[in-house]
Amino acid sequence: MKAIELKTPVYLVDEKKIEENLKTLHDIEDTTGCHILLAQKAFSMYRLYPLISSYISGATASGLFEARLAHEEMQGENHVFSPAFTEDEMKELVNICDHISFNSLRQLELHRNIWESSGVSVGIRINPEFSTQDGHEIYDPCAPGSRLGVRKADMPEHLPSGVEGIHFHTLCEQGAEPLSETVASVERNFGTYLHEAGWINLGGGHHITKPGYNISLLKDIIRHLKETYDLKVYLEPGEAIALDAGYMYTKVLDIVDNTLPVLILDASAACHMPDVLEMPYRPPLRGAGLPGEKSVTCRLASRTCLAGDVIGDYSFDIMPEIGDTLIFEDMAIYSMVKNNTFNGMPLPDIALLHPTGECEIVKSFGYHDFKTRLS
Ligand SMILES: Cc1ncc(COP(=O)(O)O)c(C=O)c1O
Repeated sequence: MKAIELKTPVYLVDEKKIEENLKTLHDIEDTTGCHILLAQKAFSMYRLYPLISSYISGATASGLFEARLAHEEMQGENHVFSPAFTEDEMKELVNICDHISFNSLRQLELHRNIWESSGVSVGIRINPEFSTQDGHEIYDPCAPGSRLGVRKADMPEHLPSGVEGIHFHTLCEQGAEPLSETVASVERNFGTYLHEAGWINLGGGHHITKPGYNISLLKDIIRHLKETYDLKVYLEPGEAIALDAGYMYTKVLDIVDNTLPVLILDASAACHMPDVLEMPYRPPLRGAGLPGEKSVTCRLASRTCLAGDVIGDYSFDIMPEIGDTLIFEDMAIYSMVKNNTFNGMPLPDIALLHPTGECEIVKSFGYHDFKTRLS
């Protein structure tokens, strides 16, 4: 089946692009000895887990369900971090994970009787209180009042007994330079613990597969940590694994006029690409330009009731028509893991674009999926 024959809306994941990203990540593992984990929160297309685990070390989870998914579908290491675990979750996690990072000393102690004899390697998340991002407070774990990680002032003199790892996550779509500054700050403020620990997890937010990313600086940082502190180094990017590796095909269902032509699509920002509204960001649209750049500018919007369910304004060489297919790009990450059926909107199917150019529908959704999430 060709892409254009797929029923819309559909997420189409590009296997070749995923593999290209994975090769870049594999090279970093290979040349530095670090371990890279897929952060499933960004991309959990488990059909591709065998491919992913053939290039990188494993996966990390944000809680029990993602940890179970990796345990069932992914070969390799299985890490988990959550701001809080329940006792029941902890009992299950110690059987399926090899690394668990706690967000507070209280959680660490609360569950000590479960993890201590389990053989799982335990870490503590620190808050370096070192912000490197502007204007994105929602994505900044170092923002004032953050619940994420233990601050220097709250750390004990030495790592608590049994703690082997230090975890931090502070970046969002950033380069190796802010990582380098963050690591320097962690060394200044948490250096004692780096000497005591056996591993460090540098979290996610590393835009490693984006053109222009300074990979050699990243490798230097990893080598520095390994050599200075004798640490095993983990990175857990999500975006970098599936960056620019997926499309959303959508059809124009109607066109209304209000100051400019408004295209009503079968895709929705609110339901199918929530980060467009939450982050917010403007997804690239194949063949289209910025407003005013090409001859006709249209607003791309959805058929939900939400007035603000607008993807953005885009310009075209030729006015799109009802029935046309539009293709949003960079739609593999934080899309299918976050979608919902608000207004009873159908969930997009999930399809795979094989390197041969053939498309395979991996999963179709329908009314049943909408109904079974309700009661
Ligand atoms: C603890 C942690 N690890 C990894 C990630 C993955 O980040 P990204 O997809 O930006 O690489 C996140 C994202 O929020 C995170 O909170």
